[in-house]
Amino acid sequence: MHQTDKIQIHDLSFVPLLSEDEIRERVAAIGQELTNHLAGKNPLFISILSGAFVFASDLIRTFDSHCEIGFVKLKSYQGTRSSGDVQTVMGLDKSLKDRHLVVVEDIVDTGRTLHFFLEHLRAQEPASITTVTFLRKPEAAQFPVQVDFVGYDINDRFVVGYGLDYDGLGRNLAGVWTV
Ligand code: XMP
Ligand code: MG
Repeated sequence: MHQTDKIQIHDLSFVPLLSEDEIRERVAAIGQELTNHLAGKNPLFISILSGAFVFASDLIRTFDSHCEIGFVKLKSYQGTRSSGDVQTVMGLDKSLKDRHLVVVEDIVDTGRTLHFFLEHLRAQEPASITTVTFLRKPEAAQFPVQVDFVGYDINDRFVVGYGLDYDGLGRNLAGVWTV
């Protein structure tokens, strides 16, 4: 979507936080680190839908070795506040046993989503789990979660863009915007 210096979505006004160019460089750097860490192991990237689909699609193309990708749909979030328990709505169809997993998340806010999802994955005895999140809000942390690679630590303010939405809108913004 075309960029300006201010975007109105529903009732909220957003200003730029991260540009398309800086995101591209940061994602490439993470892809390089993941390559160093997992090349030759045919990792299975697991993208948490919907928000992480943009990050995951850029990230796997910076991973310089064979890999597979799967998607999982979890539900825990409505409007601009984290709420409710995490439920797996659409699962993975492959065995995770003895696989090297890379969990790809758009944003870790309270940590609830990742915390519960990691428990679910560990029960299936993968060879390893590496966690990657594009954004993290350290101030909001409530659940203990292992995050191995973080794109950016940001303030506890609502953001949209690069896959993240505000009630359905904003996912197609190339950069990240904040209220
Ligand atoms: P928890 O609290 O489980 O939250 O760590 C993670 C999920 O909450 C959503 N989330 C956001 N979505 N802008 C968004 O568009 C935000 O600022 C934001 N904060 C949290 C997101 O779906 C993520 O997977
Ligand atoms: Mg959302």
